[in-house]
Amino acid sequence: TDEIERIIRAGMTETPDFPSEGILFRDLSGLFADADGLRAVSAALVDGVDAETVVGVEARGFVFGTAAAVATGKGMLAVRKAGKLPGEVLAESYDLEYGVATIEVHPDTLAPGTRVVIVDDVLATGGTLAATIRLMRRAGWVVAGVAVVIELEALGGRSALPADVEVRSLLRL
Ligand code: PRP
Ligand code: MG
Repeated sequence: TDEIERIIRAGMTETPDFPSEGILFRDLSGLFADADGLRAVSAALVDGVDAETVVGVEARGFVFGTAAAVATGKGMLAVRKAGKLPGEVLAESYDLEYGVATIEVHPDTLAPGTRVVIVDDVLATGGTLAATIRLMRRAGWVVAGVAVVIELEALGGRSALPADVEVRSLLRL
């Protein structure tokens, strides 16, 4: 809605050439700190989605993922950056807007067939969310949808995701 878009814009900063030349860095730390805004935006991400667990990707996905889970009575699955989890993990690597990254999860954290909704702050090239979807499917979980606060349309991230996954974005830039 217009009100949600207004709240997101108010909590967003834009910094050119960070963390490297040519990147316009969007950060939502101001929205994290806005009590009413955080609750409203997080709930809007997953409202009405048929899933029992929210998936958040380290680090910024943890904030909206956890807030969305609490707001809607769901659990939260933390997908970690490489090297943080002990024991046997599933891993997926991907190219980021800047650099390369690997994410990991324990395949026994959720029951087989659990329906999950993946949440993140920004959809840019789509590398992070595409890797997360691959990880969920390898673990045997059903991806009921993906939701982001901001979608950077010029980077084409939506088309980097499987066509059968529904993508919700609250603000398109
Ligand atoms: C940022 C952002 C998204 C991702 C989007 O995460 O939080 O997760 O980039 O980019 P993509 O669509 O091109 O993959 P980043 O890994 O930079 O770090 P953070 O969440 O740990 O701050
Ligand atoms: Mg991130």
